[in-house]
Amino acid sequence: MSTIEVTTNGYKPGLEGVVAAETKLSHVDGLKGELIIGGYPVEELASRASFEETVYLLWNGVLPTVDELTTFRTKLAALRTLPDAANELIHSLLPYRLPVMDVLRIVAGVADVDQPQADARQRASCLLARLPTIVATYWRLRNQQTVIQPDPTLNHAANYLYMVSGQRPDAASERGLETYLNTVIDHGLNASTFAARVIIATQTDLTSAIVGAIGALKGPLHGGAPGPALEMVFEIGSADRAEPIIREKLERGERLMGFGHRIYKVRDPRAEVLSQAAAKMFQTSGDTHLYLLAKEVEAVAIRLLEEYKPGRNLQTNVEFYTALLLHGLGMETELFTPTFAIARAGGWIAHCFEQLETGRLIRPQSKYVGKVMNSVR
Ligand code: ACO
Repeated sequence: MSTIEVTTNGYKPGLEGVVAAETKLSHVDGLKGELIIGGYPVEELASRASFEETVYLLWNGVLPTVDELTTFRTKLAALRTLPDAANELIHSLLPYRLPVMDVLRIVAGVADVDQPQADARQRASCLLARLPTIVATYWRLRNQQTVIQPDPTLNHAANYLYMVSGQRPDAASERGLETYLNTVIDHGLNASTFAARVIIATQTDLTSAIVGAIGALKGPLHGGAPGPALEMVFEIGSADRAEPIIREKLERGERLMGFGHRIYKVRDPRAEVLSQAAAKMFQTSGDTHLYLLAKEVEAVAIRLLEEYKPGRNLQTNVEFYTALLLHGLGMETELFTPTFAIARAGGWIAHCFEQLETGRLIRPQSKYVGKVMNSVR
């Protein structure tokens, strides 16, 4: 037995601090708590643009003119209907009662099967347009409800709410969802976006990259946190129970979902945008109880995280208010991460376009820490 001399210096577990891409799509400043999307601060873009405008911005580098926006909207709306293969696959998966994210990952792989000759832009529009249809179709079938066909007169956000609930949303709900989708559409080199860039950099097809990204997003350390974050608020139930319950969780070594971030060491700016959007929605519906409780829980959680993990700067991340906002829109917790995927797909695709332009395969090195044997016998 002998050892291999280490030739790979600079190993960074989790690639922390490593810059692995250049991008014009978004910039995250974790110390200042700033997020720029397509050149605009998230606070400016999220609550004012439609989702289609933000996608257009990321895919083309500029906001669309009125005519360009109409053309893009019409194109997406015309592509929403799933091909037969996707519908049949959804039906065949029903007996397994799979989580929605698993079905999204599986069916996304055949979402553009009817477009074999399409160029990358057409496939991109097709995938973006159809992810909401996959989620809503499976959701309703699994809940023994009739499937709602897409309504081409509605925009992307409103149509998704309509296909899930069967109700055409009011203006406040539509705006609430658009703000959410815009807020989370892109976020630097997060795990799922990195996964998409690694996959597309092999010059494979866009669908493969999106399927891989969906798989990465569904993990609880990435996009899977908002459901548990809301469950914690429900479990707490009233402000006086926040401290004992959170303390107990931290004593047990549990992680508080919706808190902490690899990059942000101050409050995630997206949390503020979504908190404001949620406040508006809850005020409109006249039910501010949950919103106020969440605020109390947030304050106690941050105080106790500092007590149990001093100096770690664990602050509220995007998932905490995602949960509240999507709950306010009438969504059940299992739809939170699929809705995140529907938004982030706009960013994944933009990153794929950007990565392909570099023409560069992503292939880092590993540091071998195993043994070397001289003989197998
Ligand atoms: N609750 C309790 N403790 C935490 C939390 C938390 N939410 N987050 C980090 N810590 C602790 C860790 O246990 C660790 O403590 P230790 O040093 O005593 O072992 C320390 O803080 C540092 O944690 P790391 O895991 O090194 O931090 P990392 O940068 O890898 O973690 C992550 C980032 C995964 C998001 C983490 O904060 C976490 O697990 N949060 C909860 C899950 C969550 O909200 N995920 C959504 C993230 S946002 C997004 O992806 C869209």
